[in-house]
Formats: sequence, C-alpha cells, structure tokens
Amino acid sequence: MNRELLFPTPIYMKMIKDPKKLNKYLFPLIKAWSKRDKSETKTNAGGGWHSPTNMNLQTEYEPLTKELFAMQYEIYKDYGMELKPGLGNMWANINYPGAYNKQHVHPNSQWSGVYYVKIPKDSGSLYVEDPRPGPNILLPRRLKGLPKELWRVVIYPPTEGQIIMFPSWLSHGVEMNASKEKGEKGWRVSVSFNFIQVDKDGNIG
Ligand SMILES: [Fe+2]
Repeated sequence: MNRELLFPTPIYMKMIKDPKKLNKYLFPLIKAWSKRDKSETKTNAGGGWHSPTNMNLQTEYEPLTKELFAMQYEIYKDYGMELKPGLGNMWANINYPGAYNKQHVHPNSQWSGVYYVKIPKDSGSLYVEDPRPGPNILLPRRLKGLPKELWRVVIYPPTEGQIIMFPSWLSHGVEMNASKEKGEKGWRVSVSFNFIQVDKDGNIG
C-alpha cells in the first residue's frame, strides 16, 4: 500500500557559527538585566525570571537578532512564505534550579522559538505536543520503537548555541531545571521570540 503524511508540523533547528563568543557576550548582559528589572508576570512562568519583551529593540542584542532573522529567511524559503519576517517581540529567560515553563502557545504570532545561551546539565528540555485534538483523545495501544512522526510528545534536549523555531500555535513547555550546580552555574538561560510576516514597509500584512 501507499501512504501520505499530510499537514506537517515543522520544527526547525540550527546551530549558530560561533556560539561560545556570542554566549560569552550575552550572559553578562542578561544577568545584569535580571538584577535591574523585576520579572514580568506571565501565566506560563514557573519560578524563573522573564525579562520585559522589548529585547528586540535594544541594539546591544543585534548580534543575536541578526542570527534569528537569517534563520527566519531560510524558513520563509522552505515553507514557501512571501514578503518578509518581522520580529514582534523578544525576551530573556532565566530558569533557576527548580524553575520551569508550563505548557503554552504564543498568540498573535506565526513563528516562535528559542535560543540557548547557557544550559547546565539536567536543566530541562523543551517539549512539544501533538497539536491535533483527535490523537490526544483517542490513544491506541501501540508497539514500542515507533518513528518520531507518530509520537504524541517529543522532547528536544537543549544545546548552547542552538536556535529552535516552530509554529506559534504549537503547544510547548520547558521541563523543570534539575541542575545540582550552585549559584549562577545552575542557571538555565535562554532567549525567546515571536516573528510575524510583514509587508515591504514593515507593516503587519
Ligand atoms: Fe514558549
């Protein structure tokens, strides 16, 4: 017999070229910001620090936003999107040991994702859930060793220097930071963002 797999959910991932250099630059900036500003209150927050969401407007973070735009353009090509991406907002996260992010989606956006600045051992993975309501209700008993596209939940262990992007409607969360490291050595530091398609003048189109 033949089979087609329709309506795919793309998860894009990429390593930036020189992550050590960029992360060495980003970490002190984010750390200083976390001392300066209180955490934003967000419904998915589980004990970590969440920066204000205007990180995309701060010129000191341009070395990172450049990398994010480069990847968005690759996605536009792969996903057959016209016009161009606009970076709606962006923020830094510090998950201290014990912190996590409840499962959530990113409303009013097309592509969301994360960049990993600092990832101690056992500090928690990103997980995504099958977005279709049907398979989450009817769960047949199945054999072990199924290919990934048939799983209901998929976990992505983080790597420093990696960018992951996925459709904003895809439900996802971050496991608890179970690092045993003391002080800032145990901090899990990442940057999240939302992209939306804009027209040639930069207006949401
Ligand atoms: Fe998220």
